[in-house]
Amino acid sequence: MIEIVKSTVLHGLDGRIVQVEVDVSRGLPCFDIVGLPDTSVREAKDRVRAAIKNSGFEFPVKRITVNLAPADLKKEGPIYDLPIAVGILAATEQLPPERCRFFAYLGELSLNGYLRGVNGVLPSIWAVREASSLNKVIVPEENAAEAALVDGVDVFPCGSLAAVGEFLRGESEISPYQIDLKELMSNNSSRKLDFADVKGQQAAKRALEVAAAGGHNLVMMGSPGSGKTMLARRLPGILPDLTFQESMEATKIYSLAGKLEPGTPLVANRPFRAPHHTASAISIIGGGRVPRPGEVSLAHNGVLFLDEMPEFHKDALEALRQPLEDGVVTISRVNASLTYPARLMLVGALNPCPCGSKVQTISFQVACGLSQEPDLSTVGARLKQTRLSKGLTIKQLAGNVGMSEVTLGRWEKNLGKIENYPDKVKKICQLLNIGVNYLFDELKDNSFSAVLKKARFEMGLSRKELAQALGVDKGTVLCWERGGRMVKYEEKSILNKICELQRRGFGA
Ligand SMILES: Nc1ncnc2c1ncn2[C@@H]1O[C@H](COP(=O)(O)OP(=O)(O)OP(=O)(O)O)[C@@H](O)[C@H]1O
Ligand SMILES: [Mg+2]
Repeated sequence: MIEIVKSTVLHGLDGRIVQVEVDVSRGLPCFDIVGLPDTSVREAKDRVRAAIKNSGFEFPVKRITVNLAPADLKKEGPIYDLPIAVGILAATEQLPPERCRFFAYLGELSLNGYLRGVNGVLPSIWAVREASSLNKVIVPEENAAEAALVDGVDVFPCGSLAAVGEFLRGESEISPYQIDLKELMSNNSSRKLDFADVKGQQAAKRALEVAAAGGHNLVMMGSPGSGKTMLARRLPGILPDLTFQESMEATKIYSLAGKLEPGTPLVANRPFRAPHHTASAISIIGGGRVPRPGEVSLAHNGVLFLDEMPEFHKDALEALRQPLEDGVVTISRVNASLTYPARLMLVGALNPCPCGSKVQTISFQVACGLSQEPDLSTVGARLKQTRLSKGLTIKQLAGNVGMSEVTLGRWEKNLGKIENYPDKVKKICQLLNIGVNYLFDELKDNSFSAVLKKARFEMGLSRKELAQALGVDKGTVLCWERGGRMVKYEEKSILNKICELQRRGFGA
């Protein structure tokens, strides 16, 4: 005995009618499903057997062959549980076959015969409507509201296989599910994030408004906490309401991806997708072993927000090029090529630098604050850093000190003999409001040469002047400053003399 009932198969967002042919004949008991089923369809055997038994029907101990035609399209998911079960019951005349043929069926069965909701109901029902001979469909209660969105198809929600059986035998009445589209559209479109929350940021707000008006893509760059994420999240709030057509397009994609929220059968708000920057190219574009719409399609008619944009994988960003231009994304695999819509506004947010914000280094280059800590280990670097922090140019400082710009420039590069010009050093330090000790911080140690050098710089004396004051010759001072020792002088007496000089305010 052969019986044929109807169900659907999805190819991308397009659905087609599937004929579920069930043959129950004599022979060794077995249960085969053919017609390119995937693993979850093959597993239907066990669910269907248990569900039939546990719903008060008899599972035939016969040779059962189920063919899902057309046999060249891959069948995925658990939606064929219900049509296979109804086909078997009709073929064994436990349900009236003529009445069973009036309906299309979708639904997953649990072992105790209850019907569970499935993904992709809306595009599937759309397919049922296109097949003009059929306008009645039995779906799980969970999917009733979503299925009823399609105009011109009567949707009969059922909670279990037993309830389906009673309905098909005419023992109970189920009225077609009705929904109020207008109420659904208005209920859903309550906006949570308000653009009016943004204080100030006139330029950024204006940019967002222009982008929203023209549907342009947008990138926001700014330092941490400047409100980029906040602005982007409020963008859907200033986009126009979804039309019913757009809403249906979005709902079809969400239904297929299994992302419809329970209790909200219609996507009535502009989609806003903000994938994390670790997202793979496939999750953004779509695809996978069982091809599914990616973030670009989920953001269709809405906003795709890439926060911290430079952190995204390069291949994920590159893959966005084609969908952004074409408004569709085509996923090609060995056994299928699917096209999903992807017309969206791309919004990116980034910091100027991985460290958060760029900084100006002592060499006037703009660089990352993490990688370019100013190196203050030399006299030249300290001099330059201090000059920059006071906002002076080399020209200004050199002019104030009364020296040539070239010499100052060379000192900042640690060239030239800065220690030979203590009077100039002292003046520079006074102008920059720093101590000489800060400039010569490398002379931190208390060795005789360091103390001598520091004292000389502080007093602003040249080697010659110091040598005269100490009653030694210039070469001796140079030798001491370089760490050499002169046996005939006692360090202690020299230091005492220096203290004496400082007390008298030599060079002040
Ligand atoms: N213009 C603004 N008006 C009102 N609140 C603001 C504004 N700018 C920033 N904020 C507040 O600062 C918080 C941080 O802003 P947000 O997270 O958007 O910064 P961001 O630019 O994305 O920073 P990051 O670069 O660290 O991601 C927001 O949650 C918000 O409370
Ligand atoms: Mg942010």
